[in-house]
Amino acid sequence: MSCGPLVFLAAFFAFAASWFGLVLAPQFQVGRLQQETNVVNTTELYPSARPGLARQGLEVYRAAGCAACHTEQVGQTGTVCDVVLTDAGTNHAALIETLIRSGLGRSNPGQYLSELPKPVRQGLNKEEADFLATALKSAGAKADVRIVPVGPDIARGWGKRRTVAEDYLYDDPVMLGSLRVGPDLANVGVRLPDPNWHLRHLYAPRLEVKDSPMPPYRYLFTMRRIGWQPSPDALQLPGEFAPPPGFEIVPKPEARALVAYLSSLRTDAVLFEAPMTAPSAPAAATATNTPAK
Ligand code: HEC
Repeated sequence: MSCGPLVFLAAFFAFAASWFGLVLAPQFQVGRLQQETNVVNTTELYPSARPGLARQGLEVYRAAGCAACHTEQVGQTGTVCDVVLTDAGTNHAALIETLIRSGLGRSNPGQYLSELPKPVRQGLNKEEADFLATALKSAGAKADVRIVPVGPDIARGWGKRRTVAEDYLYDDPVMLGSLRVGPDLANVGVRLPDPNWHLRHLYAPRLEVKDSPMPPYRYLFTMRRIGWQPSPDALQLPGEFAPPPGFEIVPKPEARALVAYLSSLRTDAVLFEAPMTAPSAPAAATATNTPAK
């Protein structure tokens, strides 16, 4: 039969199309990402490689199977804008009139004149926010439009913005994870900065979180007899978790590396790909980038 060439062509196109879609397109999108001065309003390079100990910690994280219960990716459904009044100016009458005209402060307009900066409207779209900010400015006040990412993950406090490919530039392998038995850890270094908290939590999760279903990782610690004096590294363990008298629990190097890795997990840099206004930014340095549409 003579359908041999047709079969060949069909197979060729099927493989070629999947190669374009699965290999070439991702390569164009993220394959050439590199460290850049991409952090909004600073000259900082982002991301920076993890310190050596944290890189070892990534191996411990991988070996212990933490990714079976934890993801490292924060999603977001969009951005909204908050209008924050930073300075009431001197023409209070005009400001109050503007506030009342935009449907605010009818009951107690005076509340906007003190304890600034104070958000006057939240959850607006860009046009509405710009309109209100311009109106406030023409009343002699100063107002900022702050870009706030929103979504279920952000509402849970797992991050301030979505994670983007650049966040993982120096991780190999990337521990994205897919199952969320526990919280997302992409930004845990910011959320839980205390290394001792992590050590105690790894040794006995229920010590830190009541009824935690997370398994304890005792093999990352050793129990040893106290020598001349207790080690400054020994965990402070109360009651039922305490070792027998004369003994102490000290973290192994693997535990330290793992905690260094957890502490290095932070995705709070303000990037052009994931616009937001840094919460602690001084008024003059708030982001001027427009939200992605
Ligand atoms: C069987 C599932 C499971 C595994 C495996 C697991 N965890 Fe967890 N983890 C949880 C759950 C559930 C919580 C929430 C309760 C708590 O905080 O203890 C949690 C909480 C945490 C938290 C606190 C996060 C927060 O925002 O409060 C950290 C940090 C953490 N886990 C790290 C790890 C590390 C590191 C490993 C691997 C050594 C690991 N987990 C393995 C289920 C798991």
